[in-house]
Amino acid sequence: MCGIVGYVGKQSAVPIVMKGLAKLEYRGYDSAGMAVWQKGDLKIEKTAGRLDRLEDKLKQNPINGTVGMGQTRWATHGRPSDANAHPHLDSEEKIAVIHNGIIENYMELKEMLQKEGHEFHSQTDTEVIPHLLEKYYEGDIEKALRKVLHIIEGSYALVVMHEDEPEKIVGARKDSPLIAGLGKGENFIASDIPAILEYTREIIVLNHGEMVTITEDDVTVTDLEGRRIEKDVYPVTWNAEAAEKSGYPHFMLKEIHEQPRAIKDTLAGRIEKGKTDIVLDEIEFSADYLKKLKKIYIVACGTAFHAAMVGKYLIEHFTRIPVEVDIASEFRYRDPIVDDPEDYLMIVVSQSGETADTLGSLREMNRKDVRIMAITNVIGSSVAREADDVLLTRAGPEIAVASTKAYTTQLVAFYMTAIKMGQIIGRLDNNETRDLIDALLDLPLLAQKVIDANENKIEKMAKRYSSKDDIFFIGRHLDYALALEGALKLKEISYIHAEAYAAGELKHGTLALIEKGVPVFAIATQPDIYAKMISNVQEVKAREATIIGLGTEGDQEIDKHSDETIHIAKTQKYFTTVLAVIPLQLFSYYAALERDCDVDKPRNLAKSVTVE
Ligand code: M6R
Repeated sequence: MCGIVGYVGKQSAVPIVMKGLAKLEYRGYDSAGMAVWQKGDLKIEKTAGRLDRLEDKLKQNPINGTVGMGQTRWATHGRPSDANAHPHLDSEEKIAVIHNGIIENYMELKEMLQKEGHEFHSQTDTEVIPHLLEKYYEGDIEKALRKVLHIIEGSYALVVMHEDEPEKIVGARKDSPLIAGLGKGENFIASDIPAILEYTREIIVLNHGEMVTITEDDVTVTDLEGRRIEKDVYPVTWNAEAAEKSGYPHFMLKEIHEQPRAIKDTLAGRIEKGKTDIVLDEIEFSADYLKKLKKIYIVACGTAFHAAMVGKYLIEHFTRIPVEVDIASEFRYRDPIVDDPEDYLMIVVSQSGETADTLGSLREMNRKDVRIMAITNVIGSSVAREADDVLLTRAGPEIAVASTKAYTTQLVAFYMTAIKMGQIIGRLDNNETRDLIDALLDLPLLAQKVIDANENKIEKMAKRYSSKDDIFFIGRHLDYALALEGALKLKEISYIHAEAYAAGELKHGTLALIEKGVPVFAIATQPDIYAKMISNVQEVKAREATIIGLGTEGDQEIDKHSDETIHIAKTQKYFTTVLAVIPLQLFSYYAALERDCDVDKPRNLAKSVTVE
């Protein structure tokens, strides 16, 4: 999510780190900071805002040294502010730490450290690390880090400097990427290749559970017990643009592939295997409050609206509270009924948190004093600031205009919200909750399985259908909500006319459009409505449509009625959307590619629609 760069050598570290960070700004840009060893002191400069703010600060207070590290941040814990920007320091300000990822057990560690007298200055999860290092430091920063890595839980790419060991930067990796770059009389550490490509093309990729120490002349990789590991040095052949996309030809494809990680991060620290607690950041709903609600309004635009539709089905199912879901541009001008504001809850969904219509709707309900919960990907965004409660999706920056990982993490946010509400209101017992939580925790692996099992097949399939003028998507219940998203994805990036219909509605008009050879994606993942869906598939098949069935593993019935089928891994019926969308995203991507479209920047569209 965030970008990290470190340098040890003979040159001035500041310009090298700043240049590297500029190459990584696409990974996060809400705050930035740097630590440089300058004549016996660890100098820190950090600020909320983009890198140019840090640059200005460094102009006012220049730092000079040949060992330094910096970060451009995408906040997950603690809003973007000077205090929350990295690096974070221990009590004596001798140890500086920069961290990408999420420390899941930071709350208990913070409590323990506070009891021992450590003072904290930020709301971040990261700040526990320098304090833990301080606690265990006995003159050897690698040894202290090894101890700390056995204590912290979660994901990380970490880089650490100690004032008393100025010749080195130490790093460690679990889940978040970290690499070392080899130079002559200088070495580098970074979260991503683009940051150091200007200086070296020889890199070492750290694996999970590995630590690295870089000095001017040496790069040493060890395991968590301190045993040396011999690593291969990879020559980088990518150009700078490919490197930004981690070698993928487009951000969209990179972001599709990031989904298992994004889903995992969004679940991290909020649920645990075998447990029944769901910790939704600071959001508290009491049973009395939920029972009194007359209605929940969910409001969003585009892809976020499609996630909201899934949210409606699930919240209604698990709580029996009526939910109305609305497109923000309609909602804001329709004077929604609110007699007593206490009877209503609004949930707004927005990846960017800056969409004008979503914000307008939020403000409309704010004026009516309705409590507002936001599901957003951007921690300091307008939506996040103006809502009462915020549930952050941890997708990381989404660069492609077509939303992929933002959508799947919004779904995951709704899954947790709906189950939590059902639990509070007393409609889900502990056993049911535990089963659902365990199924949620399997989703990252299953998402990876869906990508691995289907990508090649879908690429070929998309090429075959890419010359079609119209493609239909049909489904019922959750699969209807997914059909809408599948159609939107296809039209926005491939410009193929695509329509989604609730399968049971076809016979009321749209069936007239179905003729020989018209491709129809038939999504059939919902067991409760499966037989009805198969009848609808037969209706289109009888008009000689070409059926592309999308069903779950082991479903042979859908094969019988389809010309070709895509199968997704099995999960609980409530969670199929998050897996079934992946083949549809891949289909759109490869169809757009075949049609030579500008995949990441489709015509007439913008990533964030901040005007009406
Ligand atoms: O940033 P938001 O989630 O508020 O954006 C809403 C829509 O503009 C967005 O979901 C759009 O539909 C997608 N980029 C389509 O892929």
